[in-house]
Amino acid sequence: MENANSPPAKKLGMNAEEFRRRGKEMVDYIADYIETIEERNVFPKIQPGYLHKLIPTEAPQTPDKWDDVMNDIERVIMPGVTHWHSPKFLAYFPTANSYPAICADMLSDAIGCIGFSWISSPACTELEVVMMDWLGKMLKLPEQFISGGKGGGVIQGTASEATLVGLLGARAKTIAELKESRPELTDAEITSKLVAYCSDQAHSSVVRAAMLGNVKMVSLPSDEENNLRGKELAEAVKKDIADGLIPFYLVATLGTTACCAFDKLLELGPVCEEYNIWMHVDAAYAGSSFVCDEYRPYLDGVEFAQSFNFNPHKWMLVNFDCSAMWLKDASHVVDAFNVDPLYLKHDHQSVAPDYRHWQIPLGRRFRSLKLWFVMRLYGVQGIQDHIREQIRLAHVFERKVINDDRFEIFGKVTMGLVCFRLKNCSNEINEALLKRINADGRIHITPSKVKETYFLRVAVCSRRTEEKDMDYAWDVITELTDKLMIDSENGTVSVNGSPQNGH
Ligand SMILES: Cc1ncc(COP(=O)(O)O)c(C=O)c1O
Repeated sequence: MENANSPPAKKLGMNAEEFRRRGKEMVDYIADYIETIEERNVFPKIQPGYLHKLIPTEAPQTPDKWDDVMNDIERVIMPGVTHWHSPKFLAYFPTANSYPAICADMLSDAIGCIGFSWISSPACTELEVVMMDWLGKMLKLPEQFISGGKGGGVIQGTASEATLVGLLGARAKTIAELKESRPELTDAEITSKLVAYCSDQAHSSVVRAAMLGNVKMVSLPSDEENNLRGKELAEAVKKDIADGLIPFYLVATLGTTACCAFDKLLELGPVCEEYNIWMHVDAAYAGSSFVCDEYRPYLDGVEFAQSFNFNPHKWMLVNFDCSAMWLKDASHVVDAFNVDPLYLKHDHQSVAPDYRHWQIPLGRRFRSLKLWFVMRLYGVQGIQDHIREQIRLAHVFERKVINDDRFEIFGKVTMGLVCFRLKNCSNEINEALLKRINADGRIHITPSKVKETYFLRVAVCSRRTEEKDMDYAWDVITELTDKLMIDSENGTVSVNGSPQNGH
């Protein structure tokens, strides 16, 4: 109950009594939003700058009323929202959303601690250690990644951060090792010779990590199935060593962004081991599937990795942000990132991780709460069911594509992503189809291009997706394909201003 002496709500923004009432209204609004999301346009039909015109240019001098704020959600915000959790959203890769994770995030916001060290909020650090162990065991990660030895897990904000953290750890390790054997070398001399590797299918954040880490990154050609093979790496490494460079870091991807290809860890790992190269495995999207025994073989070879990362916030029902990273020996990153000013020191530094040394920012939210809620309220089986169902739905869609001889599948359907294109048609015609689908607005998808071949991607994203949503998406696509074919015959298809006729 509200203390009789509490100042009036107006002055506080919201007092506890009002929070109880309005918070429940907000929960109702959220549940209604999610349960009826498919009734909304999946993609906003507005122009850039739309919002500017709907709200004042200055903050209010005196408090607004709650009801006015709530009304503005539908008036101002929702018209400009892309509804990522609609079953009609089939673009990019999924971003996770579940009620347990939302509840946990509410609690995290209420506790509102900044868990940069054990002493700054012990539960925040300790739950994270245990959750990362739970998760690591669910994925059957090698023992060295589980806490208790030199290694362990940490929650990063994004896979991009994890790739950069791995790169900076590898850079520090290589510099330290080289300076032992050749003390005359300076850090700058070594850094200028460092070379990292990835596949030509790696996510753009991998190249960016090298830019931020000020090292050279070589993009290696993937094979005809878009996987990076050991032979390509070995050849590049030998050539670079002969040229006086120092190979030090490889990012292998499991589930590439364009078409969900899998680099061959069992071939790449031994090369990394032979040349003392830190292998980081980026399984941002596909990693969640490894909780199912039948998909775990994709992870074979992770024993060669120094670091491994996947995003529970993509496909494991944990709302953004929650990117799980494991290190085999955390000391390389901790030593590289440790600055330890007096005001952050405490008496328990050696017994629990101070996660500020495992990441780039100092501050960190209590993100392990949402992992805890999701793993407990779904159970491992519930998470497996979710993954299996989404993959099943992708195969339902794949079958539709295969059964229509105007189309072909691009690559293989292994997870919840189907890549496809109009057979024997130019990239421009396929692009015209993509543009028509998105302009139509009933569903939203994204394209990709691999080795000059343009294709469309349908990713099963929403946890509420059902078979009827796959039927709906396919009906929209075939209806628009029929029209495109007629226009193409008539020479009235244009892409970026150029007329397209024929295939
Ligand atoms: C394979 C891969 N790596 C990295 C990323 C970047 O993820 P994040 O947004 O968590 O940095 C993505 C995003 O889709 C991805 O597919």
